Formats: sequence, C-alpha cells, structure tokens
Amino acid sequence: MDTDIINALNCKNHNKRPPIWIMRQAGRYMPEYRALRKRYSLLELFYNPELAAEVTMLPMKAFSPDAAILFSDILVIVEALGLGLEFQEKIGPVIHRPLRSSSAIVSLSKDSLEDSLSFVYKTIELLRPQLDVPLLGFTGAPFTLASYMIEGKGSKDLKHTRQLAYKEPEAFHRLLDNLTDHIINHLKRQITAGVEAVQVFDSWANHLSPKLFREFVSPYLARIVSAIKETGTPIILFCRGTAIFMEELIALEPSAISVDWSCDLKKLREICPPHITIQGNMDPYILYASQERIETEITRILRIMEGHPGFVFNLGHGVTPDIPYENVRFLIDSIKGHIPKKILVHN
Ligand code: CP3
Repeated sequence: MDTDIINALNCKNHNKRPPIWIMRQAGRYMPEYRALRKRYSLLELFYNPELAAEVTMLPMKAFSPDAAILFSDILVIVEALGLGLEFQEKIGPVIHRPLRSSSAIVSLSKDSLEDSLSFVYKTIELLRPQLDVPLLGFTGAPFTLASYMIEGKGSKDLKHTRQLAYKEPEAFHRLLDNLTDHIINHLKRQITAGVEAVQVFDSWANHLSPKLFREFVSPYLARIVSAIKETGTPIILFCRGTAIFMEELIALEPSAISVDWSCDLKKLREICPPHITIQGNMDPYILYASQERIETEITRILRIMEGHPGFVFNLGHGVTPDIPYENVRFLIDSIKGHIPKKILVHN
C-alpha cells in the first residue's frame, strides 16, 4: 500500500513531491459520474454500498490520486436522526423537518445510529480490497450539521442558527453536544471498517464571529480531535474561509488543517507548528484557466511548501460540475508525474 499521504498527515513525508487528492474528486465534472446519475438518484448512490463504492473508484481509475475519499455525504447523519433528507435539483439538500424549537432539540435521539448508518461501513468494507492507496472517511462537524438541521437548507447567513445561538444558547449547546457524540461514533466506526484518515468538514463555521466560534465550534471540535487521535488515526479539519480562524484551528491540535484560498500559505507555514500538516489550497476556479496558468499556480504553491514533510496538495474547496475534466487530470498528473520545471531549476 502506498501510504505517502499517511506519512504526510504525520508530517513525515520526505519524498520530493507532496501527495494529492481533491475534494469532490468523484462528482458531476466526470462524464462517468453523470452517466450513473442518469440511472440513479443521488440518495440511491449514497445508500447503496455497491454503487457508493463504484462512485468512489471513478476518480481512482481515471487519475489515480494518492487517496480515495469515501462517496457519502455529511447529511447522512441528519437523515439517520429522522429529520428527512432530500436533494433537490438546483437547490441542493433540503431537510424536511428542520429543528426550530428547543423542545425539538431536546427530543432528538441519543440512541446509537450505527444500524441506520451501516451502509456507510459496508461501503468501506467493499472498497478496502479494491484500493492500493489509503481511503479517507469523513463527517460534517457539529456546527455545520446543526446549521443544516436548523435552517433546513443552504442559507446565505444562517439566520435561524445564529438566532438560536443568541436566544437559547443552552439548547444550542445541547444539540452540538448530542451531535458530537454521534459524530465521534460515526468516525470510529468508519475507522474500524477500514478508513485510514478522516476529515471533518465545518463548511459553515465561517459565518460566526470569533467569539461564537470559540463558544460553539472549538470545544466540540476539540472533543472530536482528542477522541480520534486516541485511535492513532490522522484527523484533518476543514473550515471554509479559514484565514479568519487559523489560530483557533491550530489551537485544536488536529493532525492537519485543510485551508482554502483565502489563507496565505506562506504565513500559515510560519505560524503553524511543524507537527501539524497543512492541506490545500488551490482555488478550484483556476481549473477553468489555461494549463499554463494552472502550472504557474501549482509552482507557486509547491515553492511555498517546498521541503515541508507535512503538506498535502488539495483544492481549497470541491471541484464544481463544469470544471474541465482534462484540467483535473492535468493537475493530478502535474503533481504526481513531475515537479514543474520551475521547481527543478530552483533546486
Ligand atoms: O469529496 C468527495 O468526493 C466525497 C464525497 C462528498 C460529497 N459531499 C458528495 C456529494 C463529500 C466529502 C461531501 C461533503 C459535503 N456535503 C459538505 C462539506 C463540504 C463542502 O462542500 O463544504 C457539504 C456542505 C455537503 C452538503 C451537500 N451535499 C451539498 C451542499 C450538496 C449540493 C452541492 C452541489 O454540488 O450540488 C450536496 C450534494 C453532493 N454531495 C454532491 C456530491 C458529489 C452533488 C452530486 C450530484 O448532484 O450528483
């Protein structure tokens, strides 16, 4: 098994190049994926282990990135909690019974979700023997999941969530605490099923003020980090718009922080302790530009991170559906196949 990515997540990659995988590497930009989506709904792809494993393998077969990421969604926990999940064309995820009162929060189940989520663990078991690189598991973070559960769908400013945080902080803490337990169990079960590292997506935490971030995000992420580190499995924290919360994320001491393009990599390399891996942070929209422009950006990032044993190349956020397929291949080939010429000259 090629474990460069695990070495990098442990800050011990001494190869010439960083490992690479990309967020949403299995998605609509791939014609193979679109062909499957013509035959199956998104929920069918998530809930059927054979299909979820097949989708996970699509980018592995097409481009051989250095890690596979399980094909699933952060919202499967929300469905397992009985709130009802649907993916609507052009709208995205919709939760049928959003939480809008403290009584709904109090009555939310604390029972194990292991049985309802068994399709995820089955997918991992099917995938392990097919892979010669590590498989990454993932979950949504408590705050981001809570926001979906409260808002009921994507929201530009998390109005209901922030209202609840201010008006009924105890109820909100109760919800986050309950979700943290479910999330830790979900991650541990993914690990026993065979994933070798996990990523926690706190995609919406950037809507919070630093004060609310410290009150409603940090303590729960800290609990998750410590529970997963105890298993010896690397844990990556991803938060959109990370630049504003860089210090808070570093203070949580995860194995790695995954940053988007809003973050100045040079500065991050200076302030991030050497035992925390950095993952990121190319703007996915560069993949709409010419390959020459893409190569310039790859070179810039590689130069900044040169010689860092804890660097994983990734995008700052997921690949979007209309990004040219050939440019995704070009990115992965560039990192895997050769260090761009400018770096070689530099050495
Ligand atoms: O990265 C991967 O390849 C692994 C699979 C994965 C999916 N969702 C599949 C998916 C992962 C890691 C996620 C995480 C996820 N899901 C997040 C956190 C990351 C982020 O984007 O910030 C969030 C917020 C969600 C919730 C979610 N699921 C949204 C908002 C959407 C609609 C977005 C869109 O692109 O239409 C989804 C649907 C979804 N989950 C798709 C995929 C590939 C779109 C697939 C389709 O419509 O066929």
